[in-house]
Amino acid sequence: MQTIRVETPSAKYDVVTGSGLIETLAKRIERVVGRLPRRVFVLTSPEIWALWGDCMQQSFAEAPVVLFLAPGERHKTMASVEKLARQMVAAGGDRGSLLIAFGGGIVGDVGGFLASIYMRGIPYVQVPTTFLSQVDSSVGGKTGVNLPEGKNLVGAFYHPRSVFADIGVLGTLSDRELHAGLMESVKSGIIRDRALVRYMEQHADEVLGRDPKALEKVIAASIRMKAGVVHLDERESGLRMILNLGHTVGHAVEQATGYKALLHGEAVGWGMVAALFLARERGTISNAQFVRLENLVHLYGPLPPLKLRVAKVLAATGGDKKNVGGVRRFVLPVGIGDAGVVEDVAAEELKAAVSYMLAIAEK
Ligand SMILES: NC(=O)c1ccc[n+]([C@@H]2O[C@H](COP(=O)([O-])OP(=O)(O)OC[C@H]3O[C@@H](n4cnc5c(N)ncnc54)[C@H](O)[C@@H]3O)[C@@H](O)[C@H]2O)c1
Ligand SMILES: [Zn+2]
Repeated sequence: MQTIRVETPSAKYDVVTGSGLIETLAKRIERVVGRLPRRVFVLTSPEIWALWGDCMQQSFAEAPVVLFLAPGERHKTMASVEKLARQMVAAGGDRGSLLIAFGGGIVGDVGGFLASIYMRGIPYVQVPTTFLSQVDSSVGGKTGVNLPEGKNLVGAFYHPRSVFADIGVLGTLSDRELHAGLMESVKSGIIRDRALVRYMEQHADEVLGRDPKALEKVIAASIRMKAGVVHLDERESGLRMILNLGHTVGHAVEQATGYKALLHGEAVGWGMVAALFLARERGTISNAQFVRLENLVHLYGPLPPLKLRVAKVLAATGGDKKNVGGVRRFVLPVGIGDAGVVEDVAAEELKAAVSYMLAIAEK
């Protein structure tokens, strides 16, 4: 079991990762918040509750009130938040209530946002159940929902009181979800942790075979990396942007495929291939490093094939949220374990990188 401290100007809390956390959740939460309040709410999705609800619930002396969010991005909306808030009022929720977000990144983002505005803010705890939510979305305090105009356009920075990332719940996760989530760990290594890159290269069999020790190692390193970055730049005014490696082209690929063909992590995997190409062309990584890192991306694949026109992906890069004032920001690796943000990527450079990515992705 490992505990990683997150410290930002607005919050200090622990992220605990290891096995057997769900079974002992109530006690662990009490250690953080004191005695449990009269109303404890668990926001989850029906499928996660069916798999892990009993296991979690038996740790509570008094059963929590369970709220359900149907799976899928189309339920990550203001309408869901309003509906859930009304259910909480009806069930006697007050300003002292506690919310537990028990699920993947969607449940975490909706739960965090709901907690941030319910009665002007109640404490909440993240219990992420996908690999992606354990290493990425549950840490850092970003919460929010989608609008018909785009993803994550409404939200708040609102940190949980604690995060419990239980390795055991990953046992029921599909291989595809696991592989996609691992792309964010590949990213973590490339931008800030050379030792993680080496570990993931040398222990791919154990990690992909869900060996608990190997998973804990990769998850803890990824969380530590994110906690370190968020500590230095809570509001994404500078350094935090490096977490977006692979995300400029990744988001474009998601958009160009209508958010249907690929999981987020898979799109980021392809986006990293484009970013690595661009970095090699600019000389911020050597050809040997390019080959090594691209192999690492594919080692944790397979990434689904893509059949897209270059122009369609290029057009979609224009709409990335990370662009401010029309400047196309791009995160590029610098060697292995470091990264920087560049703003002067020319249209031809980007076109070459996207063409390279699509040529490989078509095969
Ligand atoms: N807040 C942030 O900083 C941040 C960062 C990255 C991503 N996100 C958001 O996270 C969301 C994606 O999260 P995700 O990848 O976890 O997807 P998800 O929440 O949709 O979960 C993926 C699927 O896995 C199922 N599932 C979850 N846990 C399971 C388990 N233990 N066993 C079996 N099935 C399980 C879910 O029901 C769902 O069908 C996106 O909405 C994205 O915008 C937020
Ligand atoms: Zn991501």
